[in-house]
Amino acid sequence: MRKSEESGADVAVVGGGVAGLSAARELARRGLSVILLENAEPGAEASCAAAGMLAPQAEADGRDEFFELLCASREMYPTFAEQLLEESGVSIELDRTGTLYLALTEEDVEEIERRFAWQSRAKLAVERLSAEEARRLEPRVSTRVRAALRFPRDWQVESRRLVAALAASASVCGARLLMQTAASGVRVVAGRAVGVETPRGFLSAGAVVLAAGARTSHVPLLVSEREGVEARAELSLHPRIEPVRGQMLCLRQPTSSEPFVSHVVYSPRGYLVPRRDGRLLAGSTSESAGFDASVTAGGVHRIASNALEIAPEVAALRLADSWAGLRPRAADGLPVLGESPEVKNLFYATGHYRNGILLAPATGEIIADLLTGGTTKLLPRALEAFSPSRFRRALVGSHGN
Ligand code: GLY
Repeated sequence: MRKSEESGADVAVVGGGVAGLSAARELARRGLSVILLENAEPGAEASCAAAGMLAPQAEADGRDEFFELLCASREMYPTFAEQLLEESGVSIELDRTGTLYLALTEEDVEEIERRFAWQSRAKLAVERLSAEEARRLEPRVSTRVRAALRFPRDWQVESRRLVAALAASASVCGARLLMQTAASGVRVVAGRAVGVETPRGFLSAGAVVLAAGARTSHVPLLVSEREGVEARAELSLHPRIEPVRGQMLCLRQPTSSEPFVSHVVYSPRGYLVPRRDGRLLAGSTSESAGFDASVTAGGVHRIASNALEIAPEVAALRLADSWAGLRPRAADGLPVLGESPEVKNLFYATGHYRNGILLAPATGEIIADLLTGGTTKLLPRALEAFSPSRFRRALVGSHGN
């Protein structure tokens, strides 16, 4: 795209994390012309920072639309992984060993008892383990463990491989990916999104998908009431998305490349995620720090303490790397999926907060369904809960009181 060149596409996707990439790939698979704009590299913000857990059950305290969405996306993963491998040649290392959730205090025991009770009543796959059974399964788990739950269907993927696979697949399916290309605004004419302004020129598009993660509400809408009237930048029409920093430690065993544990291992305060190459990820923090993605002494201390509580032998591991990502969180903590109530042909795929990797396949499917047909086969009734309109309804409701 040369400066000021009007280069059209059916859809412009803003943001090259897993949400934007998955939407771009699925739209291109359905035959639409798609251009994706990413201001840095694929997955540079939250996606590559994520631990890659596909674990709707481990932390869930009840069944609601959100839980249904998370589970539906998890069920898509085996086929999604196969398709991505076929299209891109990249394995996302879908690991189905399962997740172990430990109770290490009396309160933790009460928490897992409640979780076991509702999930077993709901006939979900969950196993209650004694301390001995948990340690037989994962011998490195602390001797302080009192009981545990095993979730055989809560899996994990290598999130950076997922980003690479999605980027390659989206290209193979025909999407054009423009890296190092920021969207300086979405142009809106007569209430409709008509394209994206970039430093390299205007890109016209029949629809725009905003998937810019924590930065979504900072992409201005350049609104003109009529052609020829100077545009005014609007941010207030967006659902508000806030960054929530999550720091992560990457540990390695000094002498072995065998996995330290084979399950993803959680406690209510932290988690350990083994990678096939012997790395062990330890997470995480949840902090309001604006757009500061630093790793801090306090963050390292907290994560290391929680990791040591899970498995004291973590103390001997080498600190190989550390990083932080900015999770995109909407006011109610739920994803924002669907068309703007204010601007036609403007779609949001954001607010995935702690579940961006898990929700990647469902996000691509839902956005492609809504954009091409106005409805989706995947949980059509539940989708209301994630609609961008819910923020407007809340506003109208509060004014009515
Ligand atoms: N999905 C785990 C986290 O956000 O820390």
